[in-house]
Amino acid sequence: MSDMPSDEFRKNGYKLVDWIADYFTNIEKYPPLSQVKPGDILKKIPKIPPTKGEDIENVLADVDKILMDGITHWNHPGFMAYFNSTSSGPGILAELLTAALGVNGMLWKTSPAFTELERSMMNWFRQMVGLPINYWGIIYDTASTSSMHAIASAREQIDLGFREKGMAGRGDVPKLRLYCSEQAHNSIDKGALTLGIGLDGIKKIPVNEKFEIIPRKLDEAIKLDVEKGYKPFCVIATVGTTSTTSIDPVEAIADIAEKYGLWLHIDSAYAGVTAMIPEMKWITKAWDRADSLVINPHKWMFTPMDLSVYFTRKPDILKRAFSLSAEYLKTNQDSEVENLMDYGIQLGRRFRSLKLWLIIRYFGVEGLAERIKNHIVLANEFKNWIEAEKDFKLMAPVPFSTVCFRYNPENKNEAELNQLNEKLLENINASGKLFLSHTKLNGKFVIRLTIGSIRHERRHIEEAWELIQNMAKELETLS
Ligand SMILES: Cc1ncc(COP(=O)(O)O)c(C=O)c1O
Repeated sequence: MSDMPSDEFRKNGYKLVDWIADYFTNIEKYPPLSQVKPGDILKKIPKIPPTKGEDIENVLADVDKILMDGITHWNHPGFMAYFNSTSSGPGILAELLTAALGVNGMLWKTSPAFTELERSMMNWFRQMVGLPINYWGIIYDTASTSSMHAIASAREQIDLGFREKGMAGRGDVPKLRLYCSEQAHNSIDKGALTLGIGLDGIKKIPVNEKFEIIPRKLDEAIKLDVEKGYKPFCVIATVGTTSTTSIDPVEAIADIAEKYGLWLHIDSAYAGVTAMIPEMKWITKAWDRADSLVINPHKWMFTPMDLSVYFTRKPDILKRAFSLSAEYLKTNQDSEVENLMDYGIQLGRRFRSLKLWLIIRYFGVEGLAERIKNHIVLANEFKNWIEAEKDFKLMAPVPFSTVCFRYNPENKNEAELNQLNEKLLENINASGKLFLSHTKLNGKFVIRLTIGSIRHERRHIEEAWELIQNMAKELETLS
């Protein structure tokens, strides 16, 4: 009763690598957005598991037969809907190696190379994005998890004995309050939900016409809360918000955080990687005043899902919030090493730093920065095309690689424009050529196009623009 024989593994492994290489060569033949209906894939999968083992060749053949119609191709250059998450060659090879080694990095001892490669990669990445040496980094799965750990650290920092006594049923604990902008990602809300802060414990601060938090409103809200007996404990600044990629004024927020003694967390899940580009360094202004910061290589650094980097200058507080010992996890090296299980909710850890090791070494920092910069250049070209076309309108500034726009023909009222754009987006996504997303800004239905795939070339952006214009015209003639 053993594993797959090595010859069989080798043969099918080579075949799978060929399949992957062909997939990338032919990816544009697929529609970027899967066109199946709910349940279409489910009904192709037997309801009961196989009693006897099957030939692996048949199983792998079923990827094409059963799954591919139901795949939305994040690697497709026509995928411009959400912040891209694309798989590069070195990233895929690292995933293969991760699975083969099958290492669990809960303790230093459970694989010294795991802990020490993660430490080294965090040190490399810290330098790549220009954070000072006092920032310590760790890899989590997603930005949602990273931000949840930031909020947990912020809660631990106020030192009200939550670790021992919890929060519920205590008369000696004031209601906690966390602050972020109306445009912050809802992973912040989820983190607060998880940690017992509750939705009532989140104060959403209004934004200006560029969708950036208004510092004066933040200050006023905190002041009022203090007067009312709340305990403000955390503020989140977003550098690259999800809807429009707006940039909160971190310096002014840091002043306020310091004035009230709040933990400052920066969510730069999407845009943080642009700090690698010399011309974009300005986005890091006052980052060195943050208590913590999250950047997702799995969004815009060609890293297959998942990999989120969390930096903090207070790892001791993170450790205080999460470390627990169990007899079976004690080792002789505990006093001299870092055991990563002490710095978060999870015990078992995937060997994600291998992805950074292969990707950073293969492309080099310059290679990564050039690719990302090219996306910003392309997005700005697209923005110019929108601005030059009288029937289209730019709906938000474009600091990075995401463009918010709408079809805006004259003599239509707001309700008609919303309907028109909703229909336009539906038609674009049904075309099988392009996949875009939407948001609502001040009640207006807005189409979002984002560039950030390792496979995005200028021609893809040109083709997208042509398709959008044609579909808009078609809609006009039909109406
Ligand atoms: C600004 C921002 N923060 C957090 C997230 C959540 O990312 P993740 O899927 O890694 O949890 C997103 C997702 O798009 C985001 O745009």
